[in-house]
Amino acid sequence: MKKFFIEGCILINEKILDDVYYMLLQAPEIADHAEPGQFVHVKKNNSINFLRRPLGIAEVDKKKGTISLIYRIIGRGTAEYAAMTVGEQLSIVGPIGNGFMIKEGRPLIVGGGMGMAPLVFLAERLQEKKPLVLVGGKNEQEVFWPKYMEKYADKIYVTTDDGSLGFKGFTVQFLPKILEDNAVDDIYTCGPDIMMHSVAKIAKKYGKSCQVSMEKRMACGIGVCLGCTFTDKITGKRRKVCVDGPVFPAEEVFDYE
Ligand code: FES
Repeated sequence: MKKFFIEGCILINEKILDDVYYMLLQAPEIADHAEPGQFVHVKKNNSINFLRRPLGIAEVDKKKGTISLIYRIIGRGTAEYAAMTVGEQLSIVGPIGNGFMIKEGRPLIVGGGMGMAPLVFLAERLQEKKPLVLVGGKNEQEVFWPKYMEKYADKIYVTTDDGSLGFKGFTVQFLPKILEDNAVDDIYTCGPDIMMHSVAKIAKKYGKSCQVSMEKRMACGIGVCLGCTFTDKITGKRRKVCVDGPVFPAEEVFDYE
């Protein structure tokens, strides 16, 4: 798979929430080759933070040669990206990893928190299959994702922990109802491990395929540091999220007891 090392010019870097930003970048080589579920490894030039951070690709516009990233400030690296301004160059490596396998059946996309970012790109790719989307967050403010998804989704369901928008509770509490009310074949999910584990169990119970996109801290992003590994539940072998994933069939990642 082709990977590029480029300097991407920042076209937009705007605050969505207090600590969440939307960044649009000129990155034609990456826009041309990216697949949903893949990520880029980014770094501010001349930064004292020498580690790159993995960020899922949220949108791609091949004609304009742009990609977008939606990220939360979770440390010094991401705080540096938030402080960057239009016209500055971000060092980008990508696209990296194996993305979602696009299946034939009716899709349901389930996302929690910042795990929604790569699912926006997936929804765009799946739009002809009329995907259903289930998005969950702590409160109404945190569930800003429908504005990025609504043009691609057939229907969007929202859950919030505090009940300020949509169903009060977690995505996984509402998921069985969606599966009972709709014809769904394939589930695609990204978010906290605990959520994806429950999604995988429910998918199995209802006989649906399920792919999960794992979010791990990644130091090297090229399979060298072994910082992102987990044990494959089928083969028992160590797998690297950065090069073997980040997307895997759920049964390789989670047990079902
Ligand atoms: Fe280093 Fe995956 S991030 S091996």
